[in-house]
Amino acid sequence: MRDSLLELQEVRTYFYVRKGLFKTLAVKAVDGVSLSINRGETVAIVGESGSGKSTLGRTALKLVEPTSGKIIFEGKDITNLSSEDLKWFRRKAQMIFQDPYTSLNPFMTIKQIIEEPLVVHGFDAREREERVIKALEDVRLLPPETFLSKYPHMLSGGQRQRVGIARCLVLEPVFIVADEPVSMIDASSRVEILLLMRSLQGKYGIGMMYITHDIATTKYFSDKIAVMYAGKLLEIGPSQRILKEPLHPYTVALIDAVPDPDPHNRFRLRRVVTGEPPSPLNPPSGCRFHPRCPYSDGMKCVKEEPEMIEVDMNRKVACHYIEKIAGK
Ligand SMILES: Nc1ncnc2c1ncn2[C@@H]1O[C@H](COP(=O)(O)OP(=O)(O)OP(=O)(O)O)[C@@H](O)[C@H]1O
Ligand SMILES: [Mg+2]
Repeated sequence: MRDSLLELQEVRTYFYVRKGLFKTLAVKAVDGVSLSINRGETVAIVGESGSGKSTLGRTALKLVEPTSGKIIFEGKDITNLSSEDLKWFRRKAQMIFQDPYTSLNPFMTIKQIIEEPLVVHGFDAREREERVIKALEDVRLLPPETFLSKYPHMLSGGQRQRVGIARCLVLEPVFIVADEPVSMIDASSRVEILLLMRSLQGKYGIGMMYITHDIATTKYFSDKIAVMYAGKLLEIGPSQRILKEPLHPYTVALIDAVPDPDPHNRFRLRRVVTGEPPSPLNPPSGCRFHPRCPYSDGMKCVKEEPEMIEVDMNRKVACHYIEKIAGK
């Protein structure tokens, strides 16, 4: 049986910005996203800069309030939470930040950084110490005792991100949002960190939202991929299937843009998306991808918004012509 941990139902998150004295404009950062994450499952959210990935992650963690829609966590509607319930949720849901250089307080020792959430949640000193040691072991900063009194500047980027992960694990969360967790780290440590996160997630059965602009990294680290474009999902499905056989023209272009290490394929023809990503202040009508889509008919695609339709088991795509394109 599917064990659903988090469910987003038609979630919209708009930011209202003032323009001049009297006008207010809505930035439609997330504009009707439905998605579910099971226990022990990683869902990767991929898309270009500005597509709304971070806002989706922050909304799922209740760091920003959704404008509309519902968020269900462990079967409970958490869209509007009392402060008591919010504390319960804060213990269970954590975030791994992008930048291990700015997200760790430079004046605190590694021990203080990792135990801070435990202090906030009222754990006693003995339990704090035990959990900090266990978390350091989990992220393979070994032997853990040698790291306790160090400061962030004494560690490498990869080690700092391990501290960030340890800090996230001490409360034993069941849901984690990892927003571009390896984009600021040396290329040489990226895969290592992703594999570490993958193994911890498996060990503790954590549900994970992995946010990245780099679809190539999802192969190490996700069960499902959700492709986001201008606040909406265009395609969602099992990772291996999407990476092997992308269906939506935008997903095809994202995967084609990944550099191919095989020298024989270096000169192959690539389908790249031309043009700029749309502004969330004024997204295109109809299908939001239509101004950049090689298959746009200039009619239906401009006028009608495509719905997400199930094209295959657990695979959904939002495109008016998907059957034609996929059948080619
Ligand atoms: N607090 C805010 N107030 C106003 N606009 C915002 C706010 N946060 C995000 N936005 C806007 O919402 C849109 C989506 O932003 P978001 O950061 O979610 O995108 P992203 O996909 O994470 O991009 P990136 O890959 O660059 O991190 C952007 O146009 C951004 O400028
Ligand atoms: Mg972001």
